[in-house]
Amino acid sequence: MKLPTDPPFAIRARLLSPLAGGGTVHEPDGLVLVDGAGRIVYAGPSTGRPAATPTAMDLRPWIVMPGLVDLHVHLPQIPNAGLGAALDLLTWLDRYVFPLERGFDVAAAERVAPAAWRAMAAVGTTTAMVYGAVYEASLDTAFRTAEAHGIRAIIGKVMMDRVTYDPTIDPADILDRSLAESARLIERWHGAANGRLGYAVTPRFAVSCTADMLRESAALASSARTYWQTHVGEDRAEIAEVARLFPEAADYVDVYDRAGGLGPRTVLAHAVHLSDRELARLVETDTRVAHCPVSNLFLASGVMPLGRYVEAGLSLGLGSDVAGGPDLSIFSVMRVGFYAQNARAVAGLESGPMLSPLDWIRLGTLDGARALGLDAVIGSLEAGKEADLIAIDPAYVAPLEAQAPDDDPMDLASRLIFRAHPDMVRAAWVRGRRLAGPGSRA
Ligand code: GUN
Ligand code: ZN
Repeated sequence: MKLPTDPPFAIRARLLSPLAGGGTVHEPDGLVLVDGAGRIVYAGPSTGRPAATPTAMDLRPWIVMPGLVDLHVHLPQIPNAGLGAALDLLTWLDRYVFPLERGFDVAAAERVAPAAWRAMAAVGTTTAMVYGAVYEASLDTAFRTAEAHGIRAIIGKVMMDRVTYDPTIDPADILDRSLAESARLIERWHGAANGRLGYAVTPRFAVSCTADMLRESAALASSARTYWQTHVGEDRAEIAEVARLFPEAADYVDVYDRAGGLGPRTVLAHAVHLSDRELARLVETDTRVAHCPVSNLFLASGVMPLGRYVEAGLSLGLGSDVAGGPDLSIFSVMRVGFYAQNARAVAGLESGPMLSPLDWIRLGTLDGARALGLDAVIGSLEAGKEADLIAIDPAYVAPLEAQAPDDDPMDLASRLIFRAHPDMVRAAWVRGRRLAGPGSRA
């Protein structure tokens, strides 16, 4: 089958998508119509097709969904995925991550980045929020290759002035140099590819950044109107270290608050261990959180009290956190996150509502888009949005050969999450342009 590679096109398929106004659309015989600019002009029943619709390619029984949003992934760490289990976070960073990132020069970025974008698209990720390493030039490679591949990406150069792995920098120069490099990257890449690429100012976390670095980086993000991303409340030993390093702060969230880092353009990864005060402050400032349950279990960091956070109104999406998580698939993140919440409930720990399979699909699509302030642009199959789509062959998730696909949307969502297969995503498009990656392993 020759799938559409560029807009305009029309696809007939089974549609499954959250809706911006709440609820889900499930259309067993649906049509998605994409115009020449890569926008969805119609998504609904094939019988309701607009008059001048071109001939649709019939993909049924395939499912078309919005592309997945990965709010947290470390590009230089992807080759390490699956290594280093049974270490706590700070030991794992020292032994595995810093040596790996130290070697992430331009040559390494040229090797890893194009394959990484394809690997993300292969598992259905059409938008990724990404950490690079500390080297400016390797970030240029990351952006350039993302631009060529077609994925939607927000990327940032890691900033560290307390513990760093770049031996060429004089410690006295780190802050100024890191800010200047980040500012140049913003200049070159923020809003590039007609807004498909964006910049996130990226101080690694409070353990490896001074108060000056946190404050200056937040000021840069605010003046340049970029994102700001870092880690928070992931692991007990990390939290204790932050308390030791920042005795003046009330808690971990307060360290970032004092730096001016909280707000709607900030994405904090993990937030597993938040006090009521910290949670309330994140909600009050409309700060966004990347929930990374696979990583949190891999590194034995903890299990987020997700129901409590949802009830409090925290804006959340999902992150793979590779290589803290061993798998780029956001469907895998949903599955492990679901199991982790069940384990909390079994242990009598959960207080808030349990999420359904369709709620998890929403977290991985529209809620992720909302966390990035992009919910008017992507995250659901709705007319007016850009056509970031994936097509899934349900035969891959059926328990038995020739088993009929599920009729009910909740059953379908459950099957996609709990029986996700690495090859089930057969195609992915961003702005109606087909991405390389899906289908390459089959
Ligand atoms: N905290 C600071 N850096 C990292 C990282 O690279 N991965 C994870 N999981 N947590 C971090
Ligand atoms: Zn991380």
